[in-house]
Amino acid sequence: MSARHAPAAPEREAWNRDAVGWERWEPVLMHSLGSIDAPLFRALALEPGQRVIDFACGTGDPAIAIAQWVGRRGRVLGVDVSEGMLAVARRRARILRLPQLRFRRADMDRFRLRGPRFDRAVSRFGLMFAGDPPATLRSIARCLKPGGRLVVAVWGLNNPGPALRAEALRPLQEEPAADAATTPGPARFARPGVLERLFEQVGYRDVESEIVATCATHASLDDLVAMQRETSMRESFARLRADHKRRLQSRLRRLFRPFVDGRVVRVPGEARVVSGVRP
Ligand SMILES: C[S@@+](CC[C@H](N)C(=O)[O-])C[C@H]1O[C@@H](n2cnc3c(N)ncnc32)[C@H](O)[C@@H]1O
Repeated sequence: MSARHAPAAPEREAWNRDAVGWERWEPVLMHSLGSIDAPLFRALALEPGQRVIDFACGTGDPAIAIAQWVGRRGRVLGVDVSEGMLAVARRRARILRLPQLRFRRADMDRFRLRGPRFDRAVSRFGLMFAGDPPATLRSIARCLKPGGRLVVAVWGLNNPGPALRAEALRPLQEEPAADAATTPGPARFARPGVLERLFEQVGYRDVESEIVATCATHASLDDLVAMQRETSMRESFARLRADHKRRLQSRLRRLFRPFVDGRVVRVPGEARVVSGVRP
């Protein structure tokens, strides 16, 4: 998903358009984003029967895996601003027969519940898209029972994927790139300490942070480029004229070639899992 200065309505529309690509590339995306799941689940310290809320759950993760973990005595609510992404999440959940899992379309910046109902809250690669992260962290706190824990996964600094996508695009872009550290987008909380301090400012206690290595594996360079065209870089491609689209594709192929590893392309990455207890 490209970085956007976005109130929720354009954000929602953009993600609705991205949902087709997210479903088509689900095996690659879920494998890559799922590299974070073991440390994320360790930080969540889940138990059967718990109630968990997943903010910006997109096409259903980690809500689906959490629903399997907490079992039928538990309850899981997946929240996302995009009905397109949630439609994919519902299709996936239906096949897995998880009556304990529900989805709701809502903007995490303005999310309200009647009373604190959840033992755990989670957001995997979602909080960085919040319009107002401190307000979102406060809303999440209000959903948690006393002692409830929030666990968030964000991208870290050492990430060739987004860096090379930006480099591929740079000579073809007319407008200057937005500041990644202040704009909703994947690199929003990349700098260590930024999100951790925000947790503390909002009042979360026992804040912990872990750096985790990730890997995105693509069947070929052509697949890698096609996935970018249909997901993270869909909007950027849509804005370019035909010859610039072709140039962008060949620049991507060239920049990612060093990651060809035997028969596949493996792009390493770095993420952080940040957790804290409700203020
Ligand atoms: C990178 S995807 C992550 C999806 C999922 N958590 C995963 O790990 O596969 C980011 C998600 O954030 C959602 N999103 C963006 N802004 C939002 C907002 N203000 N409220 C709720 N969801 C939002 C998008 O619709 C998208 O599904």
